[in-house]
Amino acid sequence: MQRFAQGCPKDGPRKGFLLKVRIAGNGSYVPETVLTNRELEKRIETSDQWIVERTGIRERRIVSSDEATSDLAVKAAFEALKRAAISPEDVDLIIVATSMPDMFFPSTACIVQDKLGAKRAAAFDLSAACSGFLYGLSVGEQYVRSGTYRNVLVIGAETMSRLTDWDDRRTCVLFGDGAGAVVLSPSDSDRGILSVHLHSDGALFDLICVPGGGSAIPPSEKVLLEKLNTIKMKGSETFKIAVRNLEEAAHEALRATGMSIEDIDWLVPHQANIRILKAVADRLKFPKEKMVINLDKYGNTSAASIPLAFDEAVSDGRIQEGDTVLFLAFGGGLTWGSAVVQY
Ligand code: ACO
Repeated sequence: MQRFAQGCPKDGPRKGFLLKVRIAGNGSYVPETVLTNRELEKRIETSDQWIVERTGIRERRIVSSDEATSDLAVKAAFEALKRAAISPEDVDLIIVATSMPDMFFPSTACIVQDKLGAKRAAAFDLSAACSGFLYGLSVGEQYVRSGTYRNVLVIGAETMSRLTDWDDRRTCVLFGDGAGAVVLSPSDSDRGILSVHLHSDGALFDLICVPGGGSAIPPSEKVLLEKLNTIKMKGSETFKIAVRNLEEAAHEALRATGMSIEDIDWLVPHQANIRILKAVADRLKFPKEKMVINLDKYGNTSAASIPLAFDEAVSDGRIQEGDTVLFLAFGGGLTWGSAVVQY
């Protein structure tokens, strides 16, 4: 393994020598099967109108029976490597942020490593629910900044459909499956990650959780009968805290970078609910047309939602090189945070 990143002194990083880190490539993948609100109307007591008005979601993607989280992750990762113009052998570290790993262990990141053929890479998973990608970005950035690793693959990948109680109309209309990935590498200019801030509040763990199937409530007949292995969410309480925390996270990012909201070209938020996003945009006085929104097509894809939306906006030409992008995340834990990236 090449120990030190290019740009470091030959004998390694000097004390205090830190590299600027950029997003060198991005990719995403969603499964082919589309599940529309109309189809959900046939299964549960709901309506397209209720779902669209209360959430903004029109359809979501669902994995097929032979697809696992690692399959989505690998497809997004290959695209990100292609955009970064590097091969799997160039990857030093793989971080997969997910709430639905292929299995308890080994990590999904190890399975992704094998499927990619990234033989030199170290690999581990990270759990921070819907904020997982932002947490992964932060960890990956530290490795590149310190010169420890040159190319870090950060992936958010989820098969939320496998954690969903399809009889619970309060949650099953919200979630979808997908993956997004970025390659982090040293920057040779001032462009790159300008700030990252992470927060947690474990006292509110039970606002969104999957209570059963782990060590607290191990798998049993009761777990299956009571569907404790599926998502339980206190929706309206979560909603209010999400709006407040996302607004505060944005202000913290602006203060840290010395920017004003007018300096942000694109806001890429976690895609949970259109009403949350509109409320945050109103409070920040940020134009809604500069907010990247794709939850109408994919629903809430948890840790995949930010890299999926980012990849879509880069691919269709909305986000251009040099643009300043604000990522805002919120999710179970509770966890939340922000990142400012000059792309
Ligand atoms: N169809 C029809 N009616 C429904 C549905 C549905 N799919 N779901 C709920 N309802 C009903 C409820 O039963 C309730 O009826 P009642 O008054 O007779 O009891 C009524 O609609 C209102 O329910 P609320 O839960 O108060 O609806 P609300 O406007 O809060 O919307 C929602 C619910 C969409 C879940 C919203 O609260 C929300 O988006 N919360 C935040 C979610 C979030 O941000 N999660 C964070 C990330 S997730 C993660 O980390 C994994």
